[in-house]
Amino acid sequence: MTLHQVSFTVNGKKVSVEVEPRQTLADVLRGQLGLTGTHLGCEHGVCGACTIIVNGEPARGCLMLGVQAEGAEILTVEGASPDEGLSLIQEALREFHGLQCGFCTPGMVMALHHLFSVNTSPTEEEIKEAISGQLCRCTGYQGIVNAAKAVAQRLQAQQ
Ligand code: FES
Ligand code: FES
Repeated sequence: MTLHQVSFTVNGKKVSVEVEPRQTLADVLRGQLGLTGTHLGCEHGVCGACTIIVNGEPARGCLMLGVQAEGAEILTVEGASPDEGLSLIQEALREFHGLQCGFCTPGMVMALHHLFSVNTSPTEEEIKEAISGQLCRCTGYQGIVNAAKAVAQRLQAQQ
């Protein structure tokens, strides 16, 4: 089988990996690069567990092929987390019971990360819209929305 050399930036680091043409970007991140924070649930674009940021926009890692990442700037949940402790978003999710099993959480963190990167004071409706592509089977979503509202308040307080 032919392998393709693909080079891109992930979490600020340039990487070059050999990928099979059939491999999804999520599989490449997890398998070749050990970035297992990106979860795979449905593997067909529905659940959002695999959400990453590609060139500044949220993307489904399971719907992109690894070969499509050539030259891209990718951020995964590992890159959206501080080396020590938790990010503001992660801390709020913990505090407001925005997770239970945690399977959806990396995708949720990335969807919220993107929201707050473009809008530091989202309304409740905007928060719901931002996570509307993320399925969570545990929380009923209210804790996640409350966490995001707390992040917005804390960001405002910092300004
Ligand atoms: S694993 Fe990609 S959307 Fe579900
Ligand atoms: S916390 Fe279990 S799926 Fe969201």
